[in-house]
Amino acid sequence: MRSQYSKKRFCILLVCVLVLFGFLTDLSFSKRRAAEYVGTDVCKKCHGMDSIGNQYRVWVASNHANAFLRLKSSKGKEIAQKAGIDLPHADIRCLKCHTTGRGKSEATKNEGVGCEACHGPGGDYFEFSNHASFIDRENAYKKAISLGMYPILGVEGIKARERLCKNCHRDERPCAPADIEEKKRRELSLSIIADLPSKLRHPLRR
Ligand code: HEC
Ligand code: HEC
Ligand code: HEC
Ligand code: HEC
Repeated sequence: MRSQYSKKRFCILLVCVLVLFGFLTDLSFSKRRAAEYVGTDVCKKCHGMDSIGNQYRVWVASNHANAFLRLKSSKGKEIAQKAGIDLPHADIRCLKCHTTGRGKSEATKNEGVGCEACHGPGGDYFEFSNHASFIDRENAYKKAISLGMYPILGVEGIKARERLCKNCHRDERPCAPADIEEKKRRELSLSIIADLPSKLRHPLRR
């Protein structure tokens, strides 16, 4: 009789614990919702200034900025046609590597491989106080990471950077060259990933 009573209490307690657990994990999930993409023009407001290195100028002259328009070129159309795709500039199978946000974000789907394709969706960190500080850069960077910036900066970031670049720069893509030698030549070496070539390098301070 007594043991049956405590069994019942145990069951009620168990249910309470499970409900509470579910509630808490749900809360933490909603807290970690993905940030929104804001678009390269937002970054340009500050990162287009010469006083902090004008990273925008380097980007806009690179082929990454051209990646979306490339889909509308005759070569783009030709590749798409072979893959059975009518409108490459509106098809997720091309947009997922030729623009920011894998083609799923209205704000960035036409901008090419923009700032946030490599630095992460900026919705939560784009404001100065959420990712930068002239006094305590280390903590500002940590805050930025917690708000969705990708940890690709510096030496520790190189592994993450390799994953990021190779997510797009890989052999299995509809536009990969058929010629094996050409394919090899296009392969991104670890040294390019670790030390961006001069036409892609965009430091804060020269
Ligand atoms: C309101 C101005 C402003 C905007 C908008 C802005 N930034 Fe910044 N950001 C700065 C400044 C200023 C620094 C450099 C601070 C310093 O010198 O340490 C910086 C630093 C950075 C850094 C380097 C962090 C580090 O510690 O090395 C990255 C990466 C960065 N910004 C990316 C972006 C991206 C991507 C966007 C757009 C989504 C963006 N920023 C929008 C002002 C801005
Ligand atoms: C979202 C997908 C994506 C990511 C991430 C990405 N790239 Fe690219 N990259 C492209 C595309 C697409 C092109 C070709 C653009 C074109 O020619 O139209 C390209 C072109 C290039 C080129 C040729 C540039 C030139 O001007 O000829 C280099 C080098 C390169 N990327 C290096 C990198 C490195 C290094 C990283 C990582 C730090 C990286 N990419 C991350 C998609 C990406
Ligand atoms: C997995 C990622 C990925 C997908 C998916 C992808 N591309 Fe690409 N594309 C790239 C990268 C990376 C480059 C740059 C390669 C380089 O120059 O090293 C590129 C380059 C190109 C180029 C320039 C090619 C050249 O030889 O100069 C064209 C055109 C192109 N892609 C069209 C397309 C079309 C059309 C689609 C959809 C049918 C597509 N791509 C899908 C990653 C991708
Ligand atoms: C192809 C990927 C890619 C794109 C696109 C890109 N970045 Fe970067 N960015 C990087 C990498 C990788 C580094 C780290 C370079 C290093 O460690 O030398 C970096 C570094 C930076 C830094 C810090 C430089 C420093 O000296 O610490 C800033 C600021 C920055 N990027 C801003 C931007 C802005 C703004 C844009 C768009 C206009 C942009 N990036 C576009 C990959 C990219």
